[in-house]
Amino acid sequence: TDYDLIIVNGVVVTDTDIAELDIAVKGEQIAKIVPKGQLKDAKAARTIDAEGGYVMPGGVDAHVHLQEPPLFGKGSTADNYETGSRSAVCGGTTTMVTFAPQKKSEDTLLDTLHATHAKAKDVCYIDYSFHLLVGNPSERALSEFKTLREEGISSLKIYMTYEALQLHDGQILDVLLEARKQQITTMVHAENGQVIDWMTAQLEKKKMFAPKYHGTSHPPMAETEATYRAICLSEFMDTPILIVHVSTPAAAAHIKSAQDRGLPIYAETCPQYLFLTKKDLDQPGFEGAKCVCSPPPRESEADCDDIWEGLANGTFTILSSDHCPFRYDDAEMGKKSSVSEQYPLGHFKYIPNGCPGIETRLSLTLGEDRLDLKKFVEVTSANPAKLYGLWPRKGGLIEGQSDADINIWYPPGKMQEYILTNDMLHHDVDYSPFEGRTLKQWPRYTVLRGQIVWDKENGGLLGKKGYGQFVKRDASSLAGPRKAGEWEIPL
Ligand code: URP
Ligand code: ZN
Ligand code: ZN
Ligand code: ZN
Repeated sequence: TDYDLIIVNGVVVTDTDIAELDIAVKGEQIAKIVPKGQLKDAKAARTIDAEGGYVMPGGVDAHVHLQEPPLFGKGSTADNYETGSRSAVCGGTTTMVTFAPQKKSEDTLLDTLHATHAKAKDVCYIDYSFHLLVGNPSERALSEFKTLREEGISSLKIYMTYEALQLHDGQILDVLLEARKQQITTMVHAENGQVIDWMTAQLEKKKMFAPKYHGTSHPPMAETEATYRAICLSEFMDTPILIVHVSTPAAAAHIKSAQDRGLPIYAETCPQYLFLTKKDLDQPGFEGAKCVCSPPPRESEADCDDIWEGLANGTFTILSSDHCPFRYDDAEMGKKSSVSEQYPLGHFKYIPNGCPGIETRLSLTLGEDRLDLKKFVEVTSANPAKLYGLWPRKGGLIEGQSDADINIWYPPGKMQEYILTNDMLHHDVDYSPFEGRTLKQWPRYTVLRGQIVWDKENGGLLGKKGYGQFVKRDASSLAGPRKAGEWEIPL
């Protein structure tokens, strides 16, 4: 045979092109990508007829929390590397970048990295890398950035909120300075932690404990202010940042105006901010806890419309899940982690922050039919790969350069629409905040490094635990500092 796998009759969509092309895979890579019909004489071990469906690069989800200790309120994340990556592959995501969380009490980042490697090794269904979550930018931690790069890590995340993680502005400058030297992309959780704590105390005094007050405690102003502050710190240090999980139109406007001035400010949003609003936090009983994340779902559908618009106009570089799974059972009953005797049932402030969504990110967003198809591939696959140093191995379909990571979607009219229920999903969480929504698309086949790992109609999950590999990353291939090379603190 000439090839291991051939995919014919598809409409191939990448971040730059859409065309009727056929794809040949040899080993783990894209070997050929040619006009429709040109592979008809080629011999392959397996041929998939896409029947006119879209064929896209596999999803790259660059914001995933797995097996993390309690950092965002009470409770450890529910999914481990096995169940989280299993859920990912069943929804068409073939590469994930998760967090390696350094606690404030720890001095080193390398130990954190090695401990996270141990969690992921031999259990992942998809390829993976880590962002270092810097909880303590000690002298030692900063001195380790260089080694991180040597070990294939080119990004880190810092927080402007959460008691367990919040850095003050001087610490942020320390991180940005060293990140600049090592060509590391810094992700920033931009919410003003002191504003949130103050609002939470006000609400508690008035006995306003219900989940919906989580939204009140995180006003848009707290996000807008921190976003603008992060942009100022980044411009001062002349080093790129990515603002994670942007939810507020006013914050997006600051980002857009910085981008219009030519600054390397990147931004991410998530399905939560496209699909959920304040109403989802205000449900009977404690149900609103299912939609508690930070930033929270915002005021109205008009806010969601603005976030969709930001995806369309390029304000948002990437669309990630921010999969940060906690069990509703934990939140409600307090049996395991989220409440104890000291922490009575039902206070919003003890609900761990985060929603599951690694499996639904692609299908929900594509099914809405609101984004240009190339834009969809750009924000869910190509750009996360470029921004985090995985391109062109991941996020593209380039002959001889890209891994054969491919999603083949249902052709128009071929998939029976259905209502999403949690039991269809493969995570280890007892709910999805998106249950009840209509799904109009789902990957029919998913290929990872040449292997068919998902076949919706013939066996579902076919991939094997442990097939996923750690992928070393380079520096971002998107625009970096405005002044290249040597640079001095402006003194
Ligand atoms: O609510 C959220 N987003 N939880 C995850 C932690 C984070 O800040 O990304
Ligand atoms: Zn090492
Ligand atoms: Zn965050
Ligand atoms: Zn997150």
